Amino acid sequence: MCGIIGYVGFRNASQVLYEGLKALEYRGYDSAGIATQRQKKIKVIKDSGRIEQIHSKYNFLQLSGQVGIGHTRWATHGGVTKQNAHPHCDCKKEVFIVHNGVIENFDELKMNLIAGGHSFTSETDTEVIAHLFEEELKSTKNAADAFASAISKLSGSWAIAAMKKGQQTLYLARNGSPLIIGVGRGEMFCASDVPALLPYTKKVIYLENGDRAILTSGKCLIYNKEGMPAERAVHYVEWTAQMAEKGGYPHFMLKEISEQEEKVKEALAADVSAAVQLLKNQKSFCVVACGSSYYAGLVFKTALQAGTGTVVDVIIGSEFANLWSGKDKVVVAISQSGETADTLAAVRFAKGKGAKIIAITNVAGSSLYREADANVLIGAGPEIAVVATKSFICQLAVLLKIALLLSGKKAQLAKLHGLPSKIAQLMKSSEEIEKIASILCKRKDFFFIGRGMAFPAALEGALKLKEITYLHAEAYPAGELKHGPLSLLDENVVVVALAPSSQNLPKMLSNIQECKARNAQIVIVSDSKEAFEKSKLCIKLPPCETEEIPIVYVIPLQLLAYYMATKLGRDPDKPRNLAKSVTVE
Ligand code: G6P
Repeated sequence: MCGIIGYVGFRNASQVLYEGLKALEYRGYDSAGIATQRQKKIKVIKDSGRIEQIHSKYNFLQLSGQVGIGHTRWATHGGVTKQNAHPHCDCKKEVFIVHNGVIENFDELKMNLIAGGHSFTSETDTEVIAHLFEEELKSTKNAADAFASAISKLSGSWAIAAMKKGQQTLYLARNGSPLIIGVGRGEMFCASDVPALLPYTKKVIYLENGDRAILTSGKCLIYNKEGMPAERAVHYVEWTAQMAEKGGYPHFMLKEISEQEEKVKEALAADVSAAVQLLKNQKSFCVVACGSSYYAGLVFKTALQAGTGTVVDVIIGSEFANLWSGKDKVVVAISQSGETADTLAAVRFAKGKGAKIIAITNVAGSSLYREADANVLIGAGPEIAVVATKSFICQLAVLLKIALLLSGKKAQLAKLHGLPSKIAQLMKSSEEIEKIASILCKRKDFFFIGRGMAFPAALEGALKLKEITYLHAEAYPAGELKHGPLSLLDENVVVVALAPSSQNLPKMLSNIQECKARNAQIVIVSDSKEAFEKSKLCIKLPPCETEEIPIVYVIPLQLLAYYMATKLGRDPDKPRNLAKSVTVE
């Protein structure tokens, strides 16, 4: 869960790498570093801390040269220290490496390398790659062969960019972690993700697992896992650099929440035919996802299962191998990034048993996109804040469309087109939500409750709050409170009750009453006057159709979490310990 970037061309490499790292910082932000080469001298600046802090301490731009590599880290092997920050190098300081992934056999490799006289300066798994490269250079002068031979000794996952002293060349390798090449005129780039390349080029090549590549300013040579020259298509990216900027908002999260009215329109227009085609004759199928995407899966299940006879099993990526029956002919994988390791592992497991995969993703060309049999793109555009907001809402819009098409509810589907105006209306309550956030941010414990379609919305609301405020929050189906969690309620606890007008409302009102009787602070999120009478703290929403509930009810909860986080002095875009794209299992 790190970000890597590389450049070779005619520009000042440190500028490209520094700007690129900022665009990739969502992938990891506990340390960062850059190495550039000029006149056969490689210089490195790296440290623990955020990119901006490191830059203001050392000034990345003092590094000169037209070739270089950079890295932003989210620690896995070894603590958050300057020594463990990338780039890493060999004993002679001749090869420099940045890496995203996990080298599973690093212990064994490290022991052998130490026995062979190598000395290590960090606790990372990555450093073995630099020493292996150095070792291989002893038997061949050809750096490309030495690099290939070093890579062949690794097991695990990697996206690697390497640079050797005296060469205007980058050596790349990819297995499991994302790595793309940006094709320019007289310059080449590599990066973990598209936003880092948008200011320079829209032409990208997605490397396949097992690929290696050699980049020089004018050329890109790619080899497949058998070591044979390989052709990889050049794709044109439609995202613009502007889409990946804050555009005057104080945080990406607020910008991305504000974009939802527009993005829902695009998501509702998505081409879902390939998915519908594969699902329409299935009596049962399985959905796999993690985090917010898993909750989107629960909405899909709720929308499709009740009353249609289709059985939808929703499984968390990391539990898939333990739970999946193995019988489904189709598995729907939901992943904003298309790179989540747990989801990808589940997909590969299901494919191995002959299942067809439908991917619901935001990133064309991502690993999931390429491994799936059918794709639906949710059209959310680049999402930079670590927590999912617009990508979640777009997933919901696309999944609701599929569910309503499969269940033949055309009238309900037509009504979804009223969502953008409802979103616009509810965004007008953001001042009210901010006031409630000022009151609630002094509290420590939160329960989110809902029934039916409001339950997955409650789960997502609780997740948003804990992710960015670090406060304790959990969600329950409202009827479950009395089976345990009610014992925790007292005057210190906040209960956020999602109570849309629906057939669930009478029971919901009784559940709210049960919480009031235990003196909990109640926050009502509803369109019902009856519900508003239960508390002074109310978020008033427009009335909506059952299918619209998750979208209409999650957005105010995103805003609530956002305002509470900012009032608590947290950075909502980069919550501690979390990464946007989790590429380890
Ligand atoms: C991480 C992110 C979450 C996201 C989850 C699944 O944990 O912090 O916001 O929901 O991964 O990501 P995906 O890209 O597969 O939807």
